[in-house]
Amino acid sequence: MTATGTSVEALAEAYGTPFYRYDLREVDAAHERLTRALPGPHTLYYSLKANPHPRIAERLHARGCRAEVTSEAELETALAAGCPPAHCMVGGPGKTTALLDHALAHGVRDFSAESDGDLARIGAAAARTGTTARCLLRVNPDRTSTQAALTMAGRSSQFGTDAAAARAEPGRYTQVPNVQLTGLHLYMGTGLDTTDALLAQFETALSTAAVLSDLGIPLERLNLGGGFGSPYARVGTPSDFPGLRPRLTALLDGYTPGWNEGLPEIVFESGRYLSAPCGTLICSVVDTKTSNGTTYVVLDAGINQLGGTARARHPPAPIEAHPLTPSPTTLTECRLVGPLCSPLDTWHEALPLQLPAPGDLFTVPNTGAYGLTAALLGFLSHRPAAEICTDGNTVVSATRLQLQRVPLTPP
Ligand SMILES: Cc1ncc(COP(=O)(O)O)c(C=O)c1O
Repeated sequence: MTATGTSVEALAEAYGTPFYRYDLREVDAAHERLTRALPGPHTLYYSLKANPHPRIAERLHARGCRAEVTSEAELETALAAGCPPAHCMVGGPGKTTALLDHALAHGVRDFSAESDGDLARIGAAAARTGTTARCLLRVNPDRTSTQAALTMAGRSSQFGTDAAAARAEPGRYTQVPNVQLTGLHLYMGTGLDTTDALLAQFETALSTAAVLSDLGIPLERLNLGGGFGSPYARVGTPSDFPGLRPRLTALLDGYTPGWNEGLPEIVFESGRYLSAPCGTLICSVVDTKTSNGTTYVVLDAGINQLGGTARARHPPAPIEAHPLTPSPTTLTECRLVGPLCSPLDTWHEALPLQLPAPGDLFTVPNTGAYGLTAALLGFLSHRPAAEICTDGNTVVSATRLQLQRVPLTPP
């Protein structure tokens, strides 16, 4: 495609703000770091929920990643990126009949089941297609580490089947018509930033799986999830998780001898780690003002473009936007807000900044994961930020997602 120049200023001039820039070479670097940190042999899935941009999916497929998808649209993106159906896995709660039928019709056979009901619905859909689905049972362990930025297991959870329930009645999960239960899936939370935090979680997963395997649940595949942390919407460098490979190898040797020969096949999945570092959101200052002693910087992007999920957490994760051209002057604590008519549209309560002027460009680093599609895209109907992919000094793709009303005709 064109070589407009890939500097932030050149792209802002060409496409206007706000826009995301995804640097595909950073996707390569993240993938390389993660695969080096993990023990081999392993299978790695890219979780498209982190960023379903087709170029990112394509790049990760070209590097050998499979695709973990949760919707028809994510599946279509993965298939269009070249990922064969045999390398796609459908997961997530609330899988509808439409999603299951769609996936099976496209040749997908691998699923992660959240509950006995989910297993039964997957089996029923497979029966309609005249086939058998290979399923992992997602398990919610009795306890898990509390070191994740967002913990999704180890207590009452909408995700997975309680380990206690699986222990009490393992046969309930192994005898489902048109389902071949091939193993277990344990994904417990996201944002694990250290080797120790990851290992604590993996040990929980391995010990949970060992007990269930002893009770007769098959363990040909073991999806250990991941939750590999990477800085989000702030300056920072992802860890390369020193020591993870040998220490996790030792755990696998202890709990799952045979993994080295692929029995069980050890699976990981990652969205954030693979895609977060490639992205930068660029936006502009629209206004500045003070109110009752607080300085406000009003930007042309807010939680409609970035931070819908991060800001909804308790406490909300701060988002740090910085001037493109910092100058050494006195810093003022600024409240960074966006264009929505809601006080919730606040990225940061008090970020020390030189006071900007309208038109100044601001950048938010490390926003390649849980950016645009995890934002409140439709609220107030501002158009979604453009998405510009660069590969070295070339712009390889420049697109804009559109929210569009289309007429429906009853069947
Ligand atoms: C089941 C499952 N797998 C993978 C992911 C991706 O996680 P991450 O982006 O932390 O790698 C998630 C995130 O919510 C998830 O729920």
